[in-house]
Amino acid sequence: MANPPFLIVAIDGGAASGKSSSARLLADRFDLLHVDTGSFYRHITAELLRRGVPSSDLKALQAALAAMQFSTQIEGRSARMLIDGQPAGDEIRSEEVNGHVSHYAAIPEVRQKLLGYQRGLADVARQHRLRGLVMEGRDIGSVIFPDAGCRFFLHADPLERAKRRAAEGRQDSIAERDRLDTSRKTSPLKCPSGAIDIDSTHLTLAQVVEQMSAIIATKLAPA
Ligand code: CDP
Ligand code: CDP
Repeated sequence: MANPPFLIVAIDGGAASGKSSSARLLADRFDLLHVDTGSFYRHITAELLRRGVPSSDLKALQAALAAMQFSTQIEGRSARMLIDGQPAGDEIRSEEVNGHVSHYAAIPEVRQKLLGYQRGLADVARQHRLRGLVMEGRDIGSVIFPDAGCRFFLHADPLERAKRRAAEGRQDSIAERDRLDTSRKTSPLKCPSGAIDIDSTHLTLAQVVEQMSAIIATKLAPA
């Protein structure tokens, strides 16, 4: 009998477009590894801030990155990235990290350091006998897994996204992060050609997940 397909699902989109919420639900429904790459950029940012390495000091930044060791902890169906054996703390969602993360994420050396690690998580999902992985971020369908079996791009009106984040009780510089993320030279946030574009402004989370699930189910169905 042929092996069942191993499916990679890429979800990209701006801040508070619904990437993490939908990816978590899809991971549970289809038995996929959930990978929130934003949390990786946030973890690196928190670590560099803790070490006092500013995004403007490329030499110090290169030295700090070269010394960082990444490893993975699986919790349920989620992959957590450890830096030098340490998991990310709550501070990765702080206002300070919100304000700095897009500056560090624009630096090619930071992105390069994460590239191989992110791709390697497909093997981690296979080792855990999962049916695939769902990875969310800004450049997953364009750079990390351009050949992913499913590539989604989530849109939502900026005002609606700001409301969603505020409803979570979180202070966030959504507009400024979007501006920096779309305008950077390396791996900018954009809808990759061929990706399925979903405007969730007037959709509930459940409706978005239903649309995505219908497409994923066809890819996982035996031929
Ligand atoms: O949850 P939210 O969409 O607000 O942000 P996030 O996914 O936690 O990502 C935080 C920041 O990390 C983004 O604003 C980007 O600057 C950066 N990021 C990136 O550059 N590339 C990715 N694949 C994921 C995140
Ligand atoms: O990961 P990202 O920053 O793209 O967004 P999120 O943290 O998954 O979603 C932000 C908030 O919007 C969460 O509280 C969701 O429940 C809510 N929401 C949504 O994601 N999609 C909708 N269609 C409606 C609400």
